[in-house]
Amino acid sequence: MKQTAQLLFKNRRPGETVFLKEYERAGGYLGLKQALREMQPKQICELVKNSGLRGRGGAGFPTGLKWSFFPADKPAPKYLVCNCDEMEPGTYKDGELLQADPHQLVEGMIISAYALQADTGYIFIRYAYREQFANLQRAIAEATEAGYLGKDILGSGFSFELHVHGSAGRYILGEETALLNGLEGVRPNPRSKPPFPAVRGLFGRPTTVNNVETLSNIQHIVTGGAARFRDLALTVDGAGTKLYGLSGHLERTECFELPVGISLREIIDEYGGGVWRGRRFKSCLPGGASTPFLTSADLDVQLDYQTLEAVGSRFGTGGVTVFDDRTCMVAATLNLIRFFARESCGWCTPCRDGLPLVAWLLEKIEHGDGTRDDLQLLKSQYSNISGNSFCALAEGAMGPVDGLLRHFEQELVDHIEKGRCPFS
Ligand SMILES: Cc1cc2nc3c(=O)[nH]c(=O)nc-3n(C[C@H](O)[C@H](O)[C@H](O)COP(=O)(O)O)c2cc1C
Ligand code: SF4
Repeated sequence: MKQTAQLLFKNRRPGETVFLKEYERAGGYLGLKQALREMQPKQICELVKNSGLRGRGGAGFPTGLKWSFFPADKPAPKYLVCNCDEMEPGTYKDGELLQADPHQLVEGMIISAYALQADTGYIFIRYAYREQFANLQRAIAEATEAGYLGKDILGSGFSFELHVHGSAGRYILGEETALLNGLEGVRPNPRSKPPFPAVRGLFGRPTTVNNVETLSNIQHIVTGGAARFRDLALTVDGAGTKLYGLSGHLERTECFELPVGISLREIIDEYGGGVWRGRRFKSCLPGGASTPFLTSADLDVQLDYQTLEAVGSRFGTGGVTVFDDRTCMVAATLNLIRFFARESCGWCTPCRDGLPLVAWLLEKIEHGDGTRDDLQLLKSQYSNISGNSFCALAEGAMGPVDGLLRHFEQELVDHIEKGRCPFS
């Protein structure tokens, strides 16, 4: 395996968690000191904008641009919320990050809060991440004790308090406005936008929601500069490194920090150890369960935002799930759709009623009971749901269906014509 620049995983050791002393020995909290002593909040926002950092939670929204909507001059309370819900199948990179190095997120959040002039932060964390929850609690206690959190941080006059909040455990809680409802203790349906969280967010106050990986990059941008961060990517479209969580039919399924823009082939062969059991590559989800499938024709694409969009998929979360040549893509899609249908919050009809119908049609086809009419109905449901749901859950659920219909329609037809799954 080639050695590549490590920012986020530089302190990672197998089975260990880095706490304050070791984190400081490795240069931890120097970014915070630099930010508070040498930089104005607006300068940090400008630096983040120039760095080209895009949100790592899945949508890839430019972080500096998002921050520019935040009314830093409004009176407190103003909130910075970190999204660590991470319930999308095939995505586990934030959990890995917090397992290894929780102070990195804490430092990134303090600098970000200073840049935005937010006074309170919450880390909203997946219910199953019990160890990461405990790591964060310890890191927050250590940072408070050391004067990095709390009132008048390092004598700068800036104050910030930070809390960890466990999720109740549904996928919809990762959608940022549903998350805010969850934090407030009310039913976590997504909210209407506008007003956007920057205007009316948590408890009706200005709020920015960012992903764990996004916020963990901030001190590296402060200490290393915007140009260095941009140069870490292999394509001009992206910036920085990315945590790629490999899963599926590979010899090695681990999480790696690699440049934005690395090719799919390199990730699979070099880092994933190749497709398992000597089999051939058939397909993959390049960025989590809500991204459309790629095929072997796409093996040389570079994993970045524009390139993946050009081939009909998305960069998403960096969770790369590989399927070997013995995989039934109808069954694989059915598995994903069952998850999305179960996780629908039930608020809008295309998602609440459409996803179970799509699951039912795929189940029928997979079991050999499907007809040509079912295939037509599947196509029309895809069109009915896409672009017509209240939040992005149903849109994301249509990602794999889109890939199935575009690349593997013949497999659907084979199931119908043979009256059975050709792979079983
Ligand atoms: C159903 C659903 C689940 C989501 N889950 C997550 C999640 O677990 N973590 C996350 O950071 N973003 C998740 N998002 C995206 C968030 O709504 C939001 O865009 C993100 O937290 C913003 O952070 P970023 O700009 O740093 O990427 C989800 C979106 C949807 C629609
Ligand atoms: S698409 Fe509609 S029903 Fe589905 S989770 Fe979003 S708001 Fe709820």
